[in-house]
Amino acid sequence: MNSIFLDAPINDDERRELLFRGQLLVYSPTPSSLKLVNFARKMAQDALQPYEPETAQYHLPVERYAAILAELKPKFIHHPISKECIQGIFRELGVDSHKTYFDVPRMRTSTSDDYLKTGIAYAFHPHRDTWYSAPMCQINWWMPIYPIVPENAMAFHLRYWSQPVRNGSAGYNYAEWNRTSRQNAAQFVKEDTRKQPKPEEPMELDPQIRVIAPPGGILLFSGAQMHSSVPNNSGRTRFSIDFRTVNIDDVSARRGAPNVDSACTGTTMGDYLRGTDLAHVPEEYYALYETQPAFAKPEEFETATSA
Ligand SMILES: [Fe+2]
Repeated sequence: MNSIFLDAPINDDERRELLFRGQLLVYSPTPSSLKLVNFARKMAQDALQPYEPETAQYHLPVERYAAILAELKPKFIHHPISKECIQGIFRELGVDSHKTYFDVPRMRTSTSDDYLKTGIAYAFHPHRDTWYSAPMCQINWWMPIYPIVPENAMAFHLRYWSQPVRNGSAGYNYAEWNRTSRQNAAQFVKEDTRKQPKPEEPMELDPQIRVIAPPGGILLFSGAQMHSSVPNNSGRTRFSIDFRTVNIDDVSARRGAPNVDSACTGTTMGDYLRGTDLAHVPEEYYALYETQPAFAKPEEFETATSA
C-alpha cells in the first residue's frame, strides 16, 4: 500500500522509515525552498534572456539552447547559494545536518514537444536511482521551479515498489560512468548513445501517480522508487531542482529500502556532503556499498513494507 503524506508532522527518523517503505511525502514550500527556486529562476532568466525560460525553446535553435543549458546547469549546481538553501531546508524540515549528507542540487529541464530530450536535458525512461549505484538508503528531493501541470510533471509507477523488472543495471558501474559518459552530456543533442540501465521487459506504466506541487513544494521519495519523466506536451519547458540525501546512521547500519532488482556496482557514496561542513561520508563505508544488497525475498519484503 502506498500513501502520500502531506506536511506530515513527524521527525526525520519516522520520515525515512516511511520512505523506505515506499511512501511518498510532500511538503509545502519553505522559506529556503522558495529562496532556492527564486535563485534558480533568476539564473535561468539571465541565461535565456530576452526569452522567458519556460518558452525560450520556441525561439532558439536546439544546438544553441543545449549550449546555454550546458553553461547554466553547472553554474547553478556549484553556486554557494544553492548549498546554503539546502542547509536552510534541512533546518526548516527538522533534518539533522550533522547526520545528513547531500549531493549537489541539480537543475533539470524537460522541454515540450520532443524539442530536446537527450544529453543535457535527458528524458528519463522508467528507472530506480538504485539502478545507477545509489545506496538503498538514498532519499530523493524534488521541487518544481515554475508551476507544473500533469503534462510536464514526473511520474511514479508504484506497483514496481515491490515488483522486480528485468533491467540493465548489472552492466552499470558508477565509477566507469563517471570516467566515460558524464562530462559530455551536452554533445548529445539529437540522440543519446550513452549506455544507461533501462527496463528490459515491457512495463505497465499506468496507473501512475503524478504529484502536482507548487513551485518550491518538496516531493520526497526513496531512490528505489520507480519513476520517469512524462512526455511533456504542455507547451512549456518544465524546470525542476533535485538533490539526494543519505543519513549516516542508515549508511552505517545498511538500512534502507528493500532491493527489488538493482544489480549495479560502484557507489555514489563519495558524492554526498555533510549538511554542516560539506565533509564527505567517511571512506570506510564505501566498500560496503560497492555492490547492492541481495534481492529481498518476497517474505522479507512483506515485513519491510507492511505498516
Ligand atoms: Fe531518478
